[in-house]
Amino acid sequence: MLELRNIHKKFGDVRVLNGVNLRLEKGFVYTLKGGNGSGKTTLLNIISGFLAPTEGVVKFKGKKIAKFAPYRVNRLGIGRTFQDLRLAMQMTVYENILLALEKKMFGFATAEDAEKNRVNEILEQVSLTEKRNELAGEISYGQQKLLTIGCCIANNADLLLIDEPVAGIDKDNMLKIILLVRQLKQSGKTILQIEHNPAYIEATSDSVLQMEKGVIVCLK
Ligand SMILES: Nc1ncnc2c1ncn2[C@@H]1O[C@H](COP(=O)(O)OP(=O)(O)OP(=O)(O)O)[C@@H](O)[C@H]1O
Ligand SMILES: [Mg+2]
Repeated sequence: MLELRNIHKKFGDVRVLNGVNLRLEKGFVYTLKGGNGSGKTTLLNIISGFLAPTEGVVKFKGKKIAKFAPYRVNRLGIGRTFQDLRLAMQMTVYENILLALEKKMFGFATAEDAEKNRVNEILEQVSLTEKRNELAGEISYGQQKLLTIGCCIANNADLLLIDEPVAGIDKDNMLKIILLVRQLKQSGKTILQIEHNPAYIEATSDSVLQMEKGVIVCLK
């Protein structure tokens, strides 16, 4: 469903990506590893439209999307989470999901019953029902990670790009995220995640990729 061909990215004179080739098939979980600063997040930024590649082709569902703005890429079915969360910290957990569902700022007063039901379903899926009325800034870090994945689910994406889902979180929430990723795969979603945690990688990944000197090497 996603194909990257010969992706290059330079920042000024610094070459970060040096000819990345990758094909993702529907319904699989791919994990991307690699050292600090090796270009993993840059690659997610390129796929999601936040950065344009210096060179190369990004094809999603047969369309060339390398020059699309993030909102257009998102509409086509690619959702993402950020390494630094980027939640609306002053809004409640419930409102964060609703916001992601509606993809606009001013819908709260007019949320339809169907939307409210969908938000409740997603809250249940990411184990945050009991936290629904708390501010996103006041729940634990692990719960915030679950919430970012919840926002991604609300986006109704077919391809989820997840940047370091379990980095720095406790065992209990890691287990929840493992089960969640497996369940998403079961429902036909495709996942490209960046992660280093060996137990997590083992428990979730169909394929393991390594970013090395600006290219991707397939390890499994
Ligand atoms: N917008 C930008 N402008 C300039 N340089 C950038 C930009 N984004 C990333 N870089 C540089 O590109 C390199 C790759 O960064 P990137 O964030 O993709 O690495 P990463 O593999 O995700 O690392 P980490 O494991 O630390 O998250 C780094 O040297 C970084 O400083
Ligand atoms: Mg990164």
